[in-house]
Amino acid sequence: MDFDVKNIDLAPGGRHRIEWAEQEMPVLRGVQQQFDTDQPFAGLRISACMHVTTETANLMVSLNKGGADIVLCASNPLSTQDDVAAALVSYFEIPVYAIKGEDNETYFKHIHAALDHKPHIVMDDGADLVSTIHKDRRDLIGNMYGGTEETTTGIIRLRAMARDGALQFPMMAVNDALTKHMFDNRYGTGQSTMDGIIRATNYLLAGKVTVVAGYGWCSRGIAMRARGLGANVVVTEIDPLKALEAVMDGFRVMPMAEAAPIGDIFVSATGDIHVLDESHFMVMKDGALLANSGHFDVEINKPALRQLSVDEPKRVRPFVEQFTMKHNGHRLNLLGEGRLINLAAAEGHPASVMDMSFAGQALAAKYLVDHKGELENRVYTIPQSVDQEIARIKLDAMGIQIDTLTPEQAKYLDSWEEGT
Ligand SMILES: NC(=O)c1ccc[n+]([C@@H]2O[C@H](COP(=O)([O-])OP(=O)(O)OC[C@H]3O[C@@H](n4cnc5c(N)ncnc54)[C@H](O)[C@@H]3O)[C@@H](O)[C@H]2O)c1
Repeated sequence: MDFDVKNIDLAPGGRHRIEWAEQEMPVLRGVQQQFDTDQPFAGLRISACMHVTTETANLMVSLNKGGADIVLCASNPLSTQDDVAAALVSYFEIPVYAIKGEDNETYFKHIHAALDHKPHIVMDDGADLVSTIHKDRRDLIGNMYGGTEETTTGIIRLRAMARDGALQFPMMAVNDALTKHMFDNRYGTGQSTMDGIIRATNYLLAGKVTVVAGYGWCSRGIAMRARGLGANVVVTEIDPLKALEAVMDGFRVMPMAEAAPIGDIFVSATGDIHVLDESHFMVMKDGALLANSGHFDVEINKPALRQLSVDEPKRVRPFVEQFTMKHNGHRLNLLGEGRLINLAAAEGHPASVMDMSFAGQALAAKYLVDHKGELENRVYTIPQSVDQEIARIKLDAMGIQIDTLTPEQAKYLDSWEEGT
């Protein structure tokens, strides 16, 4: 079996951690049991490009149990857990192409290795597989049933492709499911981003002016959790509705130009480019921390930071590069190379929240098989019934019951005649 992982001897530790995550993934477990019986992917090849974490490992195993012949590559050069990659190869015979810290060339070599598998279905996180197929591997298109996409940024890219008439197969927008972005982006990114910043720096958050760029699903979670740790949170936005929501939630809201000189910690999660830019670095305090949790490492303008710096940055801790500014000697600390800090310096989202996202992934892949030949080359939302089912199983697993409508209530909510 061909694969490329850092060290296959790390497999036993990875296996324990995969099993640990599995305990917190009851919804995916239910889907896995169903797949084991029904074999929806028998005879099909799947190539996945995702963060190689313990939770992803459980998704891969579920698809494998459902009959899929699957390979996995990394969706970010810094997010791979090398022990998990080794365990998937050793214990589950799933080929993995991923090494934490791989350079760009290796990253794309791994993407191509995953595509050499000639997939019927691709599972993407950031749309790198899909865009590589459309740019360089068009020979694969004829084979494809379609694909699934995990994150906001990937879906923005796919919608742009569909708008331009470029998309050549159907894609399922897993991120658009409520059981994905309402929980994973908000509670998952919120908690794990703070975890990444703390593991990278061991800083006390209490009392620190923490500037959160954006007030979307992820950034809302980050602002909420930073406040919970005692930080003095400032929010920046470009959307008046989101900005208003942040104000009503009790946060200070201001432009980044005003926040830049007062912030101790900056965290972006916007999906946008150069949210932290040259003009901001010029006025930041000595010792400021710069972190990003958005999908690509473009939110912090790294080339500008390098140009403003006296020389090469100093690596002061494993995930901290310190840039000393030429004009005032202030030291600005870039965390995790400006890549998703929750995956670079911590372990990504906790299993309990990925449980729902990945149940959605697995069911979206099955949807592509069940509806083969019926779908157009566009981006599809996960059906609401799937969302409801995932939420129902999750509540059951948490031991929480909810009410059901009485016949009287169902009739009342369905009718327009009854009023005051
Ligand atoms: N770190 C992770 O594990 C993780 C998890 C899920 C999503 N993501 C990524 O995080 C990013 C955000 O995702 P989301 O679901 O929160 O998206 P979202 O669309 O809900 O939120 C983005 C917010 O950023 C705001 N914004 C855009 N440009 C801005 C700017 N220049 N300054 C201030 N605010 C700006 C938008 O108005 C919006 O409110 C995406 O790149 C997504 O792929 C990361």
